[in-house]
Amino acid sequence: MAHKYDKVFRGTAFTSRTPQEVTVLDDHLFCLDAEGVIRRILGPDDPDYDRLVAAYSGTASFLSLAEGQYFLPGFIDLHIHAPQWAQAGTAMDIPLHDWLETYTFPLESKFSDLDFARKVYQDLVVTLLANGTTTALYFATVHKEASYLLAQICADKGQRGLVGKVVMDDREQNPEYYRDESTEVALADTESFIQLVQELDKTTKQGVYPVVTPRFIPSCTDEALAGLGELAKKYNTHIQSHCSESDWEHNYVRERMQKSDTFALHEMGLLQDKAVMAHAVFLSDEDADLFAETGTAIAHCPISNVFFSNGVLPAARFTAMGIDIGLGTDISGGFSPSLFDNIRQAVISSRMLEEGVDPSLPSTERGLPQSRITANEAFYYATAGGGQSLSLPIGRLEENYAWDVQVIDVNAPNAKLPLFDEGISREDLLHKILFLSRPENIREVWVQGDCVHKRK
Ligand code: GUN
Ligand code: FE
Repeated sequence: MAHKYDKVFRGTAFTSRTPQEVTVLDDHLFCLDAEGVIRRILGPDDPDYDRLVAAYSGTASFLSLAEGQYFLPGFIDLHIHAPQWAQAGTAMDIPLHDWLETYTFPLESKFSDLDFARKVYQDLVVTLLANGTTTALYFATVHKEASYLLAQICADKGQRGLVGKVVMDDREQNPEYYRDESTEVALADTESFIQLVQELDKTTKQGVYPVVTPRFIPSCTDEALAGLGELAKKYNTHIQSHCSESDWEHNYVRERMQKSDTFALHEMGLLQDKAVMAHAVFLSDEDADLFAETGTAIAHCPISNVFFSNGVLPAARFTAMGIDIGLGTDISGGFSPSLFDNIRQAVISSRMLEEGVDPSLPSTERGLPQSRITANEAFYYATAGGGQSLSLPIGRLEENYAWDVQVIDVNAPNAKLPLFDEGISREDLLHKILFLSRPENIREVWVQGDCVHKRK
């Protein structure tokens, strides 16, 4: 008899229920259709469990985890600059504005060379998959061809990539060697990029998507911003940009537009359910309300914020206000390609915000009360929160969600986690995995039902 499911996986999984609560699915079966979507999840108490195990075990469609192995949802990197992978780990000694001019624009301008672009982009996509990142929302560069190449590499390697050709058309703010030729060319290139990637998407199982990407307000003319808002609407695309990241950028927009960048982006039609704004550290209450009302998400980049924002996102407060939040590496404002590292920093930074950093103040006045987040919340941001931010059925191990998972092996050679208490709770075990895992502990990575990385 033909089997009903394309694949059946057996093992213990962790998945977020709410930002604060994690569900543990002990020794469950996960049944996939041919599209790589989870169609049925059942536990050992289900009357069909034994029958399904008997029908599938021993076949090529059945994969059962060994002792010490666990399923986690694949991570969703909600903000990453792909070209900046070439300078990751360096160039973090100066503020954002100088950093862009001194290091980043010269580097990004080199992506007119497709051979160089291919080298960097292939290495990045493979590295992200090996770090458990199954979906990434990328900024590429102003170059249409190299941006399309990044989408092709995601398609080839099996990663779910959302890719933006960056728009920088302002002739005063951007250097002559690195900007769009004109506003018209910026909009025309964006439109043809959208069409190309939407065609490419049809050839993939996991999906690749074009993203309307004004770099940030200082890079763009009003005309380009408004034109991009219209293109996003016309083609129903995602949108990404930077918002309220640094004092310099925040003040520049106030001076130019007499309003906050949140309100300026909204006027240009750039805040909506499929919009993701990186950082958003300095939102006022009115700005934050507008994020919640429009369904605009925040890409929280906790490592980068240490270097460029000089601030900490009040993530707990914004989550309570109903804003969608996901986690981003912000390579290379953040040095690490790993969302495990960013989960750790999100928790650490939230404690700094709550306790404050000025020891001369009385302890009652030092920080922002109730700011701390737990590892559960940071895990939520890296998975379910990212999926919710992108309005895609990813980031949770639930029926009708894509099978995007990482198999964690706590007994990996040379990377055994310190587990000495056999009675450890499942939640403590998850926290050990989140705080202590290294890439060596990521045994396999699956996207949309296909294996895209296996540890050597
Ligand atoms: N704002 C505008 N461009 C950038 C960038 O490349 N990185 C960061 N962190 N912020 C930006
Ligand atoms: Fe960024």
